[in-house]
Amino acid sequence: MKIAVVGLGYVGLPLACAFAEKGAQVYGVDISADKISMLNKGVSYVGDIKSSGIKEHKRKGLLTVSTDFSIIKDCGCIAICVPTPLRKTQDPDISYIIASCEKIKDHIKKGAVVVLESTTYPGTTREVVRGILEKKNFKAGKDFFLAFSPERIDPSNKKWNVKNTPKVIGGINKASLDKAVHYYSLAIEHIVPASSLEAAEMVKLLENTFRAVNIGLINEMAQISDRLGLDVWEIVNLAATKPYGFMPFYPGPGLGGHCIPIDPLYLSWKMKSLNFYTRFIDLASEINGAMPHFTVMKLATILNGFSKSVKGSKIIILGVAYKKDVSDTRESPALELISELEEMGADVSWYDDLITYGEVPRKRLKKLSPDSLKKADMVVIATDHSHFDYDFIVKKSKRIFDLRNTLPGRKSAKIFKL
Ligand SMILES: NC(=O)c1ccc[n+]([C@@H]2O[C@H](COP(=O)([O-])OP(=O)(O)OC[C@H]3O[C@@H](n4cnc5c(N)ncnc54)[C@H](O)[C@@H]3O)[C@@H](O)[C@H]2O)c1
Repeated sequence: MKIAVVGLGYVGLPLACAFAEKGAQVYGVDISADKISMLNKGVSYVGDIKSSGIKEHKRKGLLTVSTDFSIIKDCGCIAICVPTPLRKTQDPDISYIIASCEKIKDHIKKGAVVVLESTTYPGTTREVVRGILEKKNFKAGKDFFLAFSPERIDPSNKKWNVKNTPKVIGGINKASLDKAVHYYSLAIEHIVPASSLEAAEMVKLLENTFRAVNIGLINEMAQISDRLGLDVWEIVNLAATKPYGFMPFYPGPGLGGHCIPIDPLYLSWKMKSLNFYTRFIDLASEINGAMPHFTVMKLATILNGFSKSVKGSKIIILGVAYKKDVSDTRESPALELISELEEMGADVSWYDDLITYGEVPRKRLKKLSPDSLKKADMVVIATDHSHFDYDFIVKKSKRIFDLRNTLPGRKSAKIFKL
């Protein structure tokens, strides 16, 4: 099988490797010359993918990567995994989907199936992707096939990966669904057919809206508990002892990552065009979006208790990735904490040895030295990577603001919880 993967990021690279592991000839395209050059040197930039795996696929001739789209010309399946961010106005930015389809159009062969994986609003595959790929005498569902399959990858999850996580696929017609299932079955253990493109597009938005709304609820509970003088972590953990009807979500300094803060807004944008207002989504977005500010205000109150102002205080932010054990800082609330504290005049530095790629704030600590910890007025655990040496951190720090409930029971430093 010859399979193309367009966009070799957190979603595309694991998918490309999953196909190559099963012996498919994979052709990966990305507009980033840096990424292509790293892959050609056998270097992975995605945490869950080992460089040794890339080298092995390349050695066997199963992975060819390029910035040149012409390499996809013989592929029977083309998976599109490009970004779908928001514009500054919070509207969907599907320009990456459009740009990649404009290129695919020039090289797609008759009979190939195109599968959009990028998260987007219902209707994108039919209206936008089909509109670009269809030409005179080249019709979707007949001359080429068209499907949507939402990616469910959970970076750093050791149990569920691209291969063993059930994958939903919807086609523009039965032939498209069958064709996509045929290719994807090579690498994916369990495929779940959807009745249409739009149903498959909507599934991803339900999944991520479910998370955004429940995180919004627990973040509001954190603020309520704070007012009542209660420990929100204790309340969640007690509630989670109920064996049915409750699913624990945990509070934090905000919502991060490329999916959960963004995807629900694709749906609210689409619904506004139909004169329908998505109140749960908008409320969750408002509460989660205000958490970095709430956190900074809590931190200021704690410092105030020590007769210190935020202005002039030395603050270390520990962990700036958007979640535990990943190297991705996209939409990370830690970055908002840093900029708001800096605006208030604090001297903020940060430490996260997992971050090797992407844009980061300037005052980075290369090492977490005893001296830097001792000098800090406050150490803030924004993201709790498993490899952090918390015994050492607690021993050396004067005060710690633990936003992730990482330190229960540790007593040496003064510890404050969200
Ligand atoms: N990261 C996740 O955990 C995750 C999970 C599920 C779904 N998704 C969705 O999958 C999609 C991709 O996300 P990601 O995290 O892999 O993004 P990413 O930014 O890590 O990767 C996207 C890649 O596409 C490349 N690209 C951009 N424009 C291109 C073009 N015109 N042609 C070819 N390549 C192009 C970029 O250079 C980049 O390497 C998004 O829609 C996202 O919402 C992401």
